[in-house]
Amino acid sequence: MNTGKAMMVMLAAVILSATAASAGELKNLKVFPADTGKEKVIEVMKTWTSALGVRCDHCHVQAVPGDFQSFDFASDDKPEKGVARGMMRMVQNINGKLLPQATGENDAAISCVTCHRGVTHPAPLDQIMLMTVQTKGVDAAVERYHNLHERFYGRGTYDFGPQSLVPAIDILAAEGGDMAAAQALMDLTVELYPDDANSRVRLAHLLWRRGDKAGASAALAKALELDPQNRFALRLQQQLER
Ligand code: HEC
Ligand code: HEC
Repeated sequence: MNTGKAMMVMLAAVILSATAASAGELKNLKVFPADTGKEKVIEVMKTWTSALGVRCDHCHVQAVPGDFQSFDFASDDKPEKGVARGMMRMVQNINGKLLPQATGENDAAISCVTCHRGVTHPAPLDQIMLMTVQTKGVDAAVERYHNLHERFYGRGTYDFGPQSLVPAIDILAAEGGDMAAAQALMDLTVELYPDDANSRVRLAHLLWRRGDKAGASAALAKALELDPQNRFALRLQQQLER
């Protein structure tokens, strides 16, 4: 089931039924039609909190933390509320214009969760890791990985599979990169997926490039033990024997 689509359908329903709602209830609607009913708005707000993994106070001023009565929902003082309005307009533009133009059909729709998937700053795991290596160093990046794994494993937010760090490792292992950091992320992958033959082959490649031929041979032997027909392993074996 496409939940993103279901939510967009819901958002569309909110906008369509707005005229039927009691008018003048809400004070400061700039993207929803001004006469949208309070219950409808709150229904959508609840989908946003789960889409972004936040609570109402992420975007709304709350005088006393924890006290629902002290919210000033009409206030625009929190910058996140302004960003969210921009995001609403972006989604409307994509669904109303850009997607139908691109696909020639009207039945496709995105919503907040299509991108956000439970976090405020959506990004693929390899990008987060690369950025953390570059700004805070590799130890902080490995720690971040473990924290994210603990919090998000089994949800749709990040791909924790054995391939997911490959793009980051490749960039770090490239000319002028950071070989030690590439090695640390490779070791992390092998530690988490000890039975993945392809990861062992990648480790062998990396060790070979770093001049550690014995280490490369050992990693390759392990790969072939796990998967004797692995074609990447067999190809690397030929190269190493040359
Ligand atoms: C991601 C940011 C975000 C979150 C989280 C959020 N809101 Fe909102 N809220 C907005 C924006 C943006 C508007 C204004 C929409 C517009 O201008 O049409 C709004 C408007 C409202 C309004 C109408 C206020 C008025 O009088 O104009 C209410 C009520 C409201 N939100 C309640 C909630 C509740 C309850 C929650 C938690 C369940 C919540 N919001 C979570 C961004 C958010
Ligand atoms: C096309 C992808 C996409 C969609 C759809 C999308 N967002 Fe975002 N949103 C992003 C990205 C990317 C960022 C982070 C930008 C950055 O890192 O500075 C972001 C940032 C935000 C932020 C600010 C981050 C913060 O600190 O809170 C808010 C609020 C937000 N989005 C709300 C929404 C809401 C509400 C919707 C649905 C109406 C939505 N977004 C739909 C991509 C999207």
